Amino acid sequence: IIIIFLKYSFVNNLSVCQQYTVLLLIFLTLCYALTSNYLQWSKGIDVKNHQPNQTYPSQGFNNSNETTEIQYHLAYPRNYHFIMDHTEVCKAKPPFLVLMVAVATYDMAARDAIRRTWGKETLVKGELVKTLFLLGLPGGDDAEQKQQKLRGENLLYNDLIQSNFMDTYLNLTIKTMVIMDWLATRCPEAAYAMKIDADMFLNVDNLVIMLKKPGIPKQKYLTGLIKENIEVLRDKDSKWYVSEELFPDPVYPTYALGMGYVFSNDLTEKFVQASKAIKPFNIEDAYIGMCMKKLGLKLTAPPDMSQFKAYFKSYNRCEFSQVITYILVSSEDLLKYWGDVKRPGSPCQS
Ligand SMILES: *[C@@H]1O[C@H](CO)[C@@H](O)[C@H](O)[C@H]1NC(C)=O
Ligand SMILES: *[C@@H]1O[C@H](CO)[C@@H](O)[C@H](O)[C@H]1NC(C)=O
Ligand SMILES: *[C@@H]1O[C@H](CO)[C@@H](O)[C@H](O)[C@H]1NC(C)=O
Ligand SMILES: *[C@@H]1O[C@H](CO)[C@@H](O)[C@H](O)[C@H]1NC(C)=O
Repeated sequence: IIIIFLKYSFVNNLSVCQQYTVLLLIFLTLCYALTSNYLQWSKGIDVKNHQPNQTYPSQGFNNSNETTEIQYHLAYPRNYHFIMDHTEVCKAKPPFLVLMVAVATYDMAARDAIRRTWGKETLVKGELVKTLFLLGLPGGDDAEQKQQKLRGENLLYNDLIQSNFMDTYLNLTIKTMVIMDWLATRCPEAAYAMKIDADMFLNVDNLVIMLKKPGIPKQKYLTGLIKENIEVLRDKDSKWYVSEELFPDPVYPTYALGMGYVFSNDLTEKFVQASKAIKPFNIEDAYIGMCMKKLGLKLTAPPDMSQFKAYFKSYNRCEFSQVITYILVSSEDLLKYWGDVKRPGSPCQS
């Protein structure tokens, strides 16, 4: 370019002013070429890492000027924005533990039962505990009416977090990632959090006691009922069917069952970042397993494996006083068993 310029200026006998103009033009062209090359290059890296197929344009959550152009995966929670938020919850004093309940929008009965049982535990063994319910948008013809009811419920209890994705069974992975996003951005100083389903019995005392045990990691910690080598279900009639297209491997990476898993809060931002690069599938707990694998992290077994329980055969007061989780069949059972476990008198002598 410089040679061309020199030749040009000699041949045409340009004035000083004209020479400066040409030089300036050359300089600007060079600047433009360099920056656009750089942008191309950085976009190329993104495309390679993200392998975007099922993508969704980033909207409503601007982290930087450049990211708005990049397409992230469907489960990347910053594709969505909060409608009900409660940024104040963690401001005054960061909680020790946040219980994030994944609950269907219509299931007010489950929310009410939780509010009257383990959700009302706010100070446990001297530690601050918060319970919040995570919702997407209600669907159907009367969606606006349902949304109005949710607003009323939220005014009453101040415990609903809502994001603008459709609240369906297939979108549970999005819901889980929105939980992670909320914890990372609205409650970064909380020590631990739990993703828990709405049909659970949770013994909050035992959970806090477990987390305060010496030797429990304060970082990179994820525990629960850990499952290894779980086969991906390819039967189309199964509730947990996942196509080979969505998840090609025959087995899932090690993960903790979605009924209730506990993690140190430093992991939440890491999960959010990892979700940019992991194709979503509808098994939310295995998806978190994928995030852990991607991050090169291992799950940790709980100190007492028998405390994270799934299905039970028959209710036993002593046993329920010793576990951390159990899956229940109804909200009525939660109210009944909670009342019984908490009534005066030692649960294990009768
Ligand atoms: C994306 O996925 C669809 C099916 O969901 C498939 O047909 C298509 O080839 C994929 N595209 C790319 C670029 O991988
Ligand atoms: C993000 O940026 C876009 C375009 O720059 C703008 O339209 C949108 O309102 C922004 N969203 C937020 C939440 O700031
Ligand atoms: C975009 O860039 C400008 C200038 O660097 C900065 O002031 C602004 O805060 C940026 N916007 C976002 C959303 O980061
Ligand atoms: C959520 O799920 C429904 C159907 O299950 C689907 O139509 C919708 O596109 C999904 N995604 C979002 C972001 O709402």
